[in-house]
Amino acid sequence: MKTYIVGNWKMNFTVGESSIYLHKLLKKITPKKGLVVAIAPSTIALQPLSLQIDRKKIRLAAQNCCGKDYGAYTGETAVSQLRGLIDFCIIGHSERRFVFNESDKMIREKVAACVRNGITPILCIGETESERAFGETADVLKDQISTGLADVSREDLDKVIIAYEPVWAISSVKGAKVAVPDDISSSIDIIRKHLKDTYGKSTDETPVLYGGSVNPSNCGAYLTIPGVNGLLIGGSSLIADQFNDIIEIAKRVTA
Ligand code: PGA
Repeated sequence: MKTYIVGNWKMNFTVGESSIYLHKLLKKITPKKGLVVAIAPSTIALQPLSLQIDRKKIRLAAQNCCGKDYGAYTGETAVSQLRGLIDFCIIGHSERRFVFNESDKMIREKVAACVRNGITPILCIGETESERAFGETADVLKDQISTGLADVSREDLDKVIIAYEPVWAISSVKGAKVAVPDDISSSIDIIRKHLKDTYGKSTDETPVLYGGSVNPSNCGAYLTIPGVNGLLIGGSSLIADQFNDIIEIAKRVTA
């Protein structure tokens, strides 16, 4: 199983700043077999960065896409339009679910659009602080997986990545807490068991990433949690040196 280190830049950096960052990171980064590094800049930066990137070192990801392939959807970007630029697309991030009211149906359509267009969706799932407090974590995770993957066949399951991001641990959330490996471990077990129960036994091939306040000091501990195959990193991916530190630690701990 590969290890994935994905930087989610959210709505930060101009195109010029994105290019300078990439230039810096490309100089630092040395590829390692089995380690996949990706950055998710703003949509507007994907095309220029795709001309600058060295795909042996870094891949590009989109932060969102439309679930339709073309048509009268003002302001949207179809994943079919991103083909050739990106390898991955983040879908259903909690900021999209809660700030932009993305429904389960929209998320399901987006995941299916990615698979249909040969782009790997990174389906984000995770419980809120109150769902956790009410003991609803398992139900929420199972529900988000089942609805998000409803249009994905058993054969296509290895074309999907799941990112477990407890909403209460995301650094942009007010009063965010840092999740300890035990919190994560029990959720990863729920996710893997649900995939197995739903799709059959070889779903260990589906990569499951962790995301939420990951930084160079805690990334090693997260990466060694059984069943975790990588990290989705927001804030700490905005500084090229810090992001590269995480990549270097990932190389060591997954050796
Ligand atoms: P964070 O963001 O690393 O800043 O907590 C993670 C994410 O929202 O994907």
